Order: sequence, then C-alpha cells, then structure tokens
Amino acid sequence: MNLNKMVTISVFILSALGVAFSAQARITITIAHTHVETHPEHKAFLAFKNHIENKLEDKYEIQIYPNGLSGSNERAFELVKINSIQFMAVSSSNIENLAKNYAIFSIPYLFNSEEVFEKFICDPEVLTELGKNSDKDGFIPLAAFTAGTRNFYAKFPIYSVDDLKDKVIRIQTGRTNSLMMEAFGANDYIMKFSDVYQALKHDVIDGAENNELVLVDQKHGEFCKYYSYDGHQMIPDFLIGSRDFLKSLSDEDYAVFKEAAMEAQRVEFREWKYRINAAKEQAKTMGVNFINVDVKSFREKVLPLHEELLEKNPEIRELYEMAKKYH
Ligand code: GCU
Repeated sequence: MNLNKMVTISVFILSALGVAFSAQARITITIAHTHVETHPEHKAFLAFKNHIENKLEDKYEIQIYPNGLSGSNERAFELVKINSIQFMAVSSSNIENLAKNYAIFSIPYLFNSEEVFEKFICDPEVLTELGKNSDKDGFIPLAAFTAGTRNFYAKFPIYSVDDLKDKVIRIQTGRTNSLMMEAFGANDYIMKFSDVYQALKHDVIDGAENNELVLVDQKHGEFCKYYSYDGHQMIPDFLIGSRDFLKSLSDEDYAVFKEAAMEAQRVEFREWKYRINAAKEQAKTMGVNFINVDVKSFREKVLPLHEELLEKNPEIRELYEMAKKYH
C-alpha cells in the first residue's frame, strides 16, 4: 500500500470515528404532541428546540414528533413519566386523574375572559403550585400554552343548553368533564383526540367540544357545520418534562431548558392569535356556521358544580382562590 493510500484510509477511519464519537455524545430528546405542524404548539416546540440547540450546541439532538406519532396524549403522558419521552404538550384534563390540582382548569366558567385566563396560566406562582408534587408525579410543568376557549360544535345547531339534551358529545379524559356534561344534560363519550374524526364520520357521536382550530386542523368542520359560542371552559395545555430527565441535568443545562420553555410559551401565544383568526375564516369556507348563544343558560346549569367540585377535590382549593383574585 503506498503512502498516499494509507493516509487517505487513516483519515477516513479517523473521521468516521470522530463522527461516531460526536454522535454518541449527543443525547437524543424526544418531544411529542398531537397537533399538525401549522399548530402554535408545533411552532413553540421548534423555538424550544432552537433555543436549546443554539445555547448548548451539540450536546442534545432534539426530535419533535407531531400528529400523535408517538401515541395518544394518554399514552405519551405515561411515557414521559418513565422518561421514554422527555417532553410533551398535554391538556390539563389528561393530567387531572393523576395530579388532582390540575382539575382546576376543568371547572366550567372559571374565568370571565380569555385575557384573565392567559394571565393566570402565565403566573409563575400558578406553575409552582401545580408542580408542587412533581417529585411524586414523575413530570414537571415548565410552561403553559393557551388552547383558547372550548365551545360545543355539532352536526346540528346548538342555540340553547336544551339542544344538548341526550346528544352524544365527545369529551377528553378527566373526571370533571363528565360531571360537567351530566349537568348540561348531554351524554358524554370519552375518546382520544385522534379518534374524533372517524367517530364523527361514522356517526358514533353527534358532536364534540373544543377550540376552533380543530374544525380545520383535524377537519371536524367536514361533519360539524355548527359551532356555538357557549364558552364553557378554558383548558390549557402544559409543556411538561420528564422528572427523571430534568433531574439528571446540570444546573446550567436545566436553566437553559427553563429559558427554552419560556421562549416556547411566548411563541405559542403569539402564533395562537394569528392561527385562531385564520382558522375561523377557513372554517367558514368549509360551510361552518358560528352561532352566538345565550351563555347565561349554559352557565346556570353548571355553576352549582363549583362548590361540589371544591368539596370533592380539596386539592383545587388553593388554585381556585388564586383564580378568583384575577377577576
Ligand atoms: C385541544 C388541546 C389538546 C387536547 C384536545 C382534546 O386541542 O390542545 O391538547 O388533546 O383539545 O380535546 O383532546
């Protein structure tokens, strides 16, 4: 073998090893969410990823799995707790069966406006209170994302609360949601987010409840031509991290992840304002009618639930008192 050939081979081997070493040194982080790539939460996670990769250079390789590619919210939540997935965005409703204080957000008509709700979920004291048992729960909340206001939408028009009577409406997991639907007089059907499209298509359900984005992002507007502004709940999603993963970080790296979460929150809120208006316009072109209803009739049905829920679940009292101060 001549010298040139030997040098070339050695360079090749060394550079291959070099790549292997640097690849080995990078820690892979998996992020899961169930939304499409134009959704504010996806944009927020891109900002999260960029922040960490810029600040900590080659230390972490961050992979984002949108569209429920890593499983349903319920499944991904289990995987975060055992550190198979490191971060996800998850609705407080999906958390409340494990960490009971998150049920605060399922209380219908807790906030008087989205503005108040947004201020509340961005309050660092609220995040601290929510995360007070994270050592036991296996996950740590790092930031809240707005998910707007939840309203009913269906294949039939809903003008008053009586129109819900005996109709089958999909809700997300969380005990409080079932109690609320019972008070509204409807039949609830607990179902994974990703199953709602097929359930609407095959007439398994008459309608559902969510923010306007699902009409276009999840194409529910193909079947539900009526969206009624009853405004029964404002339920945030939380950017949560695996406790075991976060606790394994150095203080310096942990601080960067926290900064990244705040950056993600800023991006999510900014994108939300823009996307929600665009989605409404897009839904109209799909033939969806937006209906303004008499909110009072809906509110009256469920207001007695506040006291009942506080009694059943004392874990929410502290946050309930905090929320009341925002009014
Ligand atoms: C919202 C929320 C999701 C949640 C969904 C649902 O879209 O952003 O996190 O999964 O509602 O109703 O299941």
